[in-house]
Amino acid sequence: MLSVLSTSYGKDLYLITLKNDQIIINITNLGCTVTAIYTPDSSGVMKNIVAGFRNLSFYEQNDAYFGCVVGRYANRIAGGKFTLAGQPVQLSVNDGTNHLHGGFEGFHKKIWSVVAEIREENRVGVVMEYLSKDGEEGYPGNLLVQVRYTLDNTGKLSVRYTGHTDKPTPVNLTNHSYFNLSGFEQELITGHLLQINASHYTGKNDHNVPDGSVIEVEGTALDFQQPKRIGDDIDQFPNDKGFDHNYVLNSAGEIAEAAVLYEPVTGRELRVFTDQPGMQLYTANWWLGGLYPKHGAVALETQAFPDSPNHPSFPSTILHPGEVYEKHTIYAFGVR
Ligand code: BGC
Repeated sequence: MLSVLSTSYGKDLYLITLKNDQIIINITNLGCTVTAIYTPDSSGVMKNIVAGFRNLSFYEQNDAYFGCVVGRYANRIAGGKFTLAGQPVQLSVNDGTNHLHGGFEGFHKKIWSVVAEIREENRVGVVMEYLSKDGEEGYPGNLLVQVRYTLDNTGKLSVRYTGHTDKPTPVNLTNHSYFNLSGFEQELITGHLLQINASHYTGKNDHNVPDGSVIEVEGTALDFQQPKRIGDDIDQFPNDKGFDHNYVLNSAGEIAEAAVLYEPVTGRELRVFTDQPGMQLYTANWWLGGLYPKHGAVALETQAFPDSPNHPSFPSTILHPGEVYEKHTIYAFGVR
């Protein structure tokens, strides 16, 4: 299951394959990244359904965040600034005036340590670890995180995130896989049907950070409470060039179904379950057509709300010494 690909990074670089009768998943410890997920369509034809590079070396940059774990804080923090226990904290600013996805050298660019393999009767998996040092990208505290990927016999990929710190620090980890359930046979995901179990989303300002409002989706282009073609309202957001919004999940932190994505031509379906309070819907709005076109895939990023450290009304993302950060997301693959 584990194979060493290269040792040129000072640490071993691995490509790990998790496999059951139906599904093959490739994961590398560079960025703790899912590089491919092969699943059958309704006729049994296997295709890779996530955006990825052909060559592992391209993941050293990975500016579009294909498949990786994003951290220490996924999405944006306004001005890269917040106050923690009365002290100002300044993070690196790598996205206009904001801090985005952990900064210039976020977790997605780090070589993670492979600390365990899981081989059980009903599931296989791998555990990876990364120590983010005090001061990295401006974050306070040494933060040790682990991500455990397991694939079970029923077609579920489970991703468990845990972490500990020695100083209070914000933590918000997600996986940034982009899905195209047609296996990229169709260039765009506009024909996919999407349902999101959220009646609200977080409003945002022109810099793409929350303004503190929580708004009903009912009757708006962001309403996916019933299955809707992604393409139907994708043109309603000219500034974003598509969907780039954080949904406030109805489940409010309990593990529950957050979203269902369905591709009617191939019959592939993905159901996402999470105990995170939010989910970013991002339709690859800035892809330029080199590898994939704009709207060539869709990311369903289960997460805490963007910019939470600056919004006391949002669920807290501050991890304290002695506490355990624990989040869980499940991707259930199937066909209809
Ligand atoms: C964000 C987008 C950002 C993209 C980068 C998404 O998670 O919501 O605003 O452009 O990541 O690939």
